[in-house]
Amino acid sequence: MGIRNNIIDEIKSRCNIVDVIGRHVLLKKSGSNYKGVCPFHNEKTPSFVVSDTKQIFTCFGCGATGDVIEFVQRYNNLDFLGALEKLCDEYGIEMKPSGYQTEQDRTALYEINREAATFFYRAFFNNPNPGYDYMKKRGFVPEVLRKFGIGYADDEWDSLYQYFIKKGTDLQILLKLGLISYSKGKYFDKYRNRIIFPIINTRRKVIGFGGRTLGDKEPKYLNSPESAIFQKKNNLYGLNLTRQDINKEKCVILVEGYMDVISLYQNGIRNVSASLGTALTENQAAMIKRYSDNVILAYDADEAGQTAALRGLDILHKAGCKAKVMHISDGKDPDDFIKENGKEEFLKLVSNAMSFADYKIYLLRQRLDLNTTEGRVEFLQETAKILGELSPVEADIYIKKIARETNISEGAIRLEINVNNNSENIKKYKKVSVQDTGNKYQSGRTDSGFGTMLEKNLIKLMLLNSSYVNMIKPYEWVFQSPSAFKIYDVIKSVYKLDEEIDVKKVEDSLETEDNKLLQDIMENIHLADKEEQVFQDCIKSIKEAVLAKREQEIIQLISILDDEKDRDKIDALTIELMKLQKGKIKDR
Ligand code: CTP
Ligand code: MN
Repeated sequence: MGIRNNIIDEIKSRCNIVDVIGRHVLLKKSGSNYKGVCPFHNEKTPSFVVSDTKQIFTCFGCGATGDVIEFVQRYNNLDFLGALEKLCDEYGIEMKPSGYQTEQDRTALYEINREAATFFYRAFFNNPNPGYDYMKKRGFVPEVLRKFGIGYADDEWDSLYQYFIKKGTDLQILLKLGLISYSKGKYFDKYRNRIIFPIINTRRKVIGFGGRTLGDKEPKYLNSPESAIFQKKNNLYGLNLTRQDINKEKCVILVEGYMDVISLYQNGIRNVSASLGTALTENQAAMIKRYSDNVILAYDADEAGQTAALRGLDILHKAGCKAKVMHISDGKDPDDFIKENGKEEFLKLVSNAMSFADYKIYLLRQRLDLNTTEGRVEFLQETAKILGELSPVEADIYIKKIARETNISEGAIRLEINVNNNSENIKKYKKVSVQDTGNKYQSGRTDSGFGTMLEKNLIKLMLLNSSYVNMIKPYEWVFQSPSAFKIYDVIKSVYKLDEEIDVKKVEDSLETEDNKLLQDIMENIHLADKEEQVFQDCIKSIKEAVLAKREQEIIQLISILDDEKDRDKIDALTIELMKLQKGKIKDR
């Protein structure tokens, strides 16, 4: 009762046992397993083993064993349901069934939608009506409109309602599907005087509708509400008709609108689909990838379209698709363009489509002035980020091209990419943490903004042992978060030689906000008797970060200085850079 039947499978596939246990138990990799101190009995040497492959835990000391759910049950003293709830909550898994659950219930909904679609279709094709005239005027031919099952909702207020009443259809379902609505004691049709686009999934079920107004009524498009059978984020318009073509062409053209799909289709471009107006979702990307991993975004030329394209590119790239963006000239959408210029011209645009990296670099060049130093520095930084997402072979092609076009040296671009990719130090500098030094002192997350791990560790050190106050002083500039800085300041002021820090005094001198950070440090930072090692690690990461930052600065400077005029400066910087990089290799 009350929970989905496949919930346990979903939990087990989404909640990795190593992550779940790792939040409470310090786990160290040991062969293909992880090992730690058993939380269920007292022990000094770790005999608690977690298997990533088998997704179970076993303690060779006390014999405790089980899967992720059993761990959560035992660790948190919960019953089975309680453990499911906790995991669902933490991993954002929906636990309860949503509305109509059984296949039988859904079948009834599909059936009603199909009847409605047929009702609208007949109204569109059987008698003269404004909908048909409108589509004809826009150049659509009946043969294609029939394929897409286009319909018309007339201007009466209850035609569809009356139709279903006569059949004795359940009103609640009609309301849920968004076909009729209820107001002031009356039921009336939701779609009135609109062209109807049935949305049909690849299993040929009518899952929803889009209705375009014929006049200037808002909204321009009225779409079915989310229901047990219609989730916008999980569907693409037109795939029911076009997926074979997409498969055959090994490429899909993604457009924004219903009209664009039908228009391209009519003009002989059939490997097309639409994301139903919204920004492309991960689920939609995964769906497309089943048919083709070459995706061309043909979004409207307006700003909204371009923003959507940029986001779409990222999502497709992450989903493992080769995504491109095509630019439709003279501010049109694909429908307008192909009607005016025909298939061949449209295909030219397709072949000029820009890849993920091309498009992003193109936008950068539009935004930045490469004749200024700042412009060149930012261009170099941003480009490196983009190229870092590509495979080395792909990146190489771009590096050469960009070097040619911008006069930034190939070497500089390469180095910048390496700095981004390899040097964890830069990241450390921004979010300095001692977490990745091999020893995990902290199993929690880093708390960005509020106080970095580095700041927290250093403060804890001083609180535990006041002799660190003087040792940390030379690096005090690392206290950059406001609260951390204040705590450090107070610690310095209460510090007395050969006396431990009076934490109570520190607390009393702090404002509430800053005290929160102090409490967090007191409760959550455990240095596990490894103060000296933590201190050394902190200092090491600070030094590395400083050097990495200088390295990055030098690389940028070299890339933007003038080869002729600034020869001496470049030489000096190159020598400094070589020294820096030599030092880094020695340290390894
Ligand atoms: N859309 C929507 N709701 C709106 C406006 C738009 O769901 N109020 C979605 C529709 O899927 C629509 C797509 O966004 O097809 C693109 O919108 P737009 O460019 O405004 O419409 P077109 O498809 O170009 O329609 P038309 O050519 O008839 O103007
Ligand atoms: Mn349009």
